Amino acid sequence: MTVLITGAGGQLGKDLLDAFAEHHPVGRTRAQLDVGDEAAVWAAVEELRPAIVINAAAWTDVDGCEGDPARAHRANALGPWWLARACRALGGTLVTVSTDYVFDGDAPTGPDGHRRGWSEFDALAPINAYGRSKAAGEQLVRETLPDHHIVRTAWVAGARGGNFVRTMLRVGRERGRVAVVDDQHGSPTFTRDLADAIRRLVVSGRHGTVNITNQGWCSWFELAAATFELADLDVELTPQPSSALDRPAPRPAWSVLEGTHAEAMGIGPLPHWREGLRALLRELDASTS
Ligand SMILES: NC(=O)c1ccc[n+]([C@@H]2O[C@H](COP(=O)([O-])OP(=O)(O)OC[C@H]3O[C@@H](n4cnc5c(N)ncnc54)[C@H](OP(=O)(O)O)[C@@H]3O)[C@@H](O)[C@H]2O)c1
Repeated sequence: MTVLITGAGGQLGKDLLDAFAEHHPVGRTRAQLDVGDEAAVWAAVEELRPAIVINAAAWTDVDGCEGDPARAHRANALGPWWLARACRALGGTLVTVSTDYVFDGDAPTGPDGHRRGWSEFDALAPINAYGRSKAAGEQLVRETLPDHHIVRTAWVAGARGGNFVRTMLRVGRERGRVAVVDDQHGSPTFTRDLADAIRRLVVSGRHGTVNITNQGWCSWFELAAATFELADLDVELTPQPSSALDRPAPRPAWSVLEGTHAEAMGIGPLPHWREGLRALLRELDASTS
């Protein structure tokens, strides 16, 4: 069985290559396969005839996407669509990874009146160009290929990529103090756990849309605090509002995903995010020692 992983140079792509190691996956970085290039996608799928394509490719620079929505659409909407079309024509299942940013951040409430996480069945309402491009990618895949898995995840961090945890470690060590927003909440997710869950999802053969994150949720401020605590770093940490950053793209204030459907499908629950963070810090330590 051939497994093709696109975006193999990214933090999730690299850990997917490890998670699928026993299937001898074929990884393609952006330089090797630009998913926005329809002809290139067709040629790769025709050559490899993968039983499973896992699309971890995306333009993830949220502020960059805001300034160039056409480029975002090409990578994040057309890319998954070309892959879905090739899988439909040539045979194969597609897993494509999506995001909490397909929601607007205005927290939904449960029957008890308390805010709840976004479910797989809540209406999409992205508030920035990145979220719009990812939502379009989801929709195009859904319309094109019945045998799809859309995996929504959030606040992703791995040992081999740029992410919030690694930025905090670097800035904390360099400056000894940092201000972090405390008015955005989400579900931190660690690529080792996510890649393994995607492997289990593929094996389950159950198609559709699932939210997969580590358990629990927090603010960026709380994630920074936990990072410094578990890394045993003495850093002066100050909370600040998102408005202090004045970034081009608005961010959803409530980005928590609920994994009820994934759990019903036998995927999860994943470890609590603090456990995922602990494991990531151990992996980072091991890679530098
Ligand atoms: N990072 C997060 O916090 C987060 C949150 C929710 C969902 N997600 C989703 O999770 C998935 C994996 O993200 P990640 O965190 O692993 O991001 P990442 O580290 O930025 O990896 C994405 C990879 O895709 C590549 N890429 C960009 N445009 C491409 C194109 N047109 N064709 C082929 N490859 C292309 C990038 O290459 P270059 O680096 O060379 O551009 C990069 O290697 C994505 O679908 C993302 O939308 C991420």
